[in-house]
Amino acid sequence: MKLRTHKCGELTKQQVGQSVVLNGWVQRRRDHGTVMFIDLRDRTGLTQVVFNSERNLSVHKAAHTLRSECVVSISGQVMARPDESRNPNLPTGEIEVFVDDVEILNEAKTPPFLIEDDAEVTESIRLKYRYLDLRRPRMQKLLGMRHAISQAARGFLHSEGFLEVETPVLTKSTPEGARDYLVPSRVNAGQFFALPQSPQLFKQVLMVSGVDRYYQIARCFRDEDLRNDRQPEFTQIDLELSFVDRQQVMEMMERMIVTIFRDAGGVQLPTPFPRMTYAEAIGRYGSDKPDLRFDLPLHDVTAFAAASEFKVFKDAATKGGIVKALIVKGGAATPRSRIDALGETAKSFGAKGLAWLKITPEGQLESVIAKFLDPKAFAAALPDAQPGDLVLFGADKPAVVHDVLGRIRLLLGEELNLIDKNAWKPLWVTEFPLLDYSPEEKRYVFMHNPFAAPMDEDLKFLDAEPLKVRAKAYDMVLNGSEIGGGSIRNHRSDIQLKILDLLGINKEQAQAKFGFLLEALDYGAPPHGGIAFGLDRLIMLLGGADSIRDVIAFPKTQRAQCPLTDAPSTVGAEQLKELRIKLDLVE
Ligand code: AMO
Ligand code: AMP
Repeated sequence: MKLRTHKCGELTKQQVGQSVVLNGWVQRRRDHGTVMFIDLRDRTGLTQVVFNSERNLSVHKAAHTLRSECVVSISGQVMARPDESRNPNLPTGEIEVFVDDVEILNEAKTPPFLIEDDAEVTESIRLKYRYLDLRRPRMQKLLGMRHAISQAARGFLHSEGFLEVETPVLTKSTPEGARDYLVPSRVNAGQFFALPQSPQLFKQVLMVSGVDRYYQIARCFRDEDLRNDRQPEFTQIDLELSFVDRQQVMEMMERMIVTIFRDAGGVQLPTPFPRMTYAEAIGRYGSDKPDLRFDLPLHDVTAFAAASEFKVFKDAATKGGIVKALIVKGGAATPRSRIDALGETAKSFGAKGLAWLKITPEGQLESVIAKFLDPKAFAAALPDAQPGDLVLFGADKPAVVHDVLGRIRLLLGEELNLIDKNAWKPLWVTEFPLLDYSPEEKRYVFMHNPFAAPMDEDLKFLDAEPLKVRAKAYDMVLNGSEIGGGSIRNHRSDIQLKILDLLGINKEQAQAKFGFLLEALDYGAPPHGGIAFGLDRLIMLLGGADSIRDVIAFPKTQRAQCPLTDAPSTVGAEQLKELRIKLDLVE
């Protein structure tokens, strides 16, 4: 085999006249009789190679046997293309290579789909033949983006004095709120390792070890329901620092993300990132990861509602609920059928309804509920609502109103083209509540993870009003996606135990689950805090991918399966016996 002198995306006018060797895959063949063209492809791009019967009869003959995706080595001479056949869209579009010798290195079966970006193919076929799917330029670009982001992160963290430390994959359960993947231990029959949901416990232990600044590009495993931005196995840029406060962590992480976006994607993120408390984010956008590429805020009209004659509003506003409104600018022309459909959508999100009114060009209120409302009071309560607008209302418990209107807001943003798709809108969301109350489980649950420290000024509420306590937690949000989250931790075991107790985890349970961390805290744990970024989500955003599966070389389907390897799969009786596992499957 003749070894390549150049890659397929490299040749330009500068090499005209040179003899070169290219190795690669046959992208496509075009037969023009005495002249045959082939696009030869490797990771770097395409080069047009020419088999001319007048130049070399035997290679022209051999070219007829070249099929798509077979692997070849060609040698020949670089020529400038005639003016009319130049391709300005191709980096190698100024030249072509006239072939003097061709060697087929390997044949290829006809692939089940074309190796082109816009080939029509189902995702299950793509994942079954992932090696072919990954040959496509877009997928190569995303793999390259993944590498570039990791490199930029490593470079930044190295320059800031972080040590990369690997933590175990066969370990104990880490409480990030999802289900664990378990691995049976043969040597210790009846016992199981859990795959880590994150390196949380180990990174805190590393702070006790005096590592000072730790990072890891860490694989995390969570058995949860999958979505377009969730995989059971995903990667975090995970880090932890000693002797820091929230401001320092946020300031440094902002610089890291700005560096990554600049170096890996040529994107200049606007700085400083705005900061918004959790309460502000929920109140104004109905979400703790607000998409700031468009405004469309939620307006509080609870006081107006309480004084109105509309029973739904009045009841909600006077019985512990709230009433909020979305103003759709120029929306008064929206047909009734569309408004009703939005109402149905709101119900599917958990609302009881979606009251609405239109303001006519003359300034009249037009709605089935208009008769219950005082136009003057309405104008005073919602001065932003103008003639020609449509107003949508949610009346319920705050959590329902915020969730439903937050989701309707996003839906309208897309539907009405309010989102500037070229904009980058990062922000920090801070001051998350430490705890939430789960009515289903009738107990407190943690909002971030159980190791987040309470804000100093809220410690006084810990006993009597724990829901009032805010945590020293922060999330980084970009274009409506939560790209990272972290907190300052409890470095004293007494406060940590108290919070665990509130979460219904008593001392014995805490000891059994993460006693090693609690014990470590008693041996001189420094104040510490950290954060983890979803690497896959960063690539999705920077690479413009809609699905997290596109940014992972070998992802799982929505059903948590791998069509390439057919994992997960059954195992033989012998293997189960060795692990002392008996199956109890219900058909
Ligand atoms: P958290 O659970 O918020 O925090 O995770 C951090 C970031 O990881 C990403 N992420 C995911 N990406 C893809 N698929 C998933 N299933 C998935 N789950 C989370 C998100 C998220 O912001 N130990 C803490 C971090 C810390 O406190 O330092 C943790 O894991 O982008
Ligand atoms: P009704 O009185 O049930 O006919 O409802 C009148 C209007 O109020 C309809 O448009 C309903 O969708 C709406 N509606 C009912 N309950 C709520 C609620 N909890 N929040 C917002 N709108 C509601």
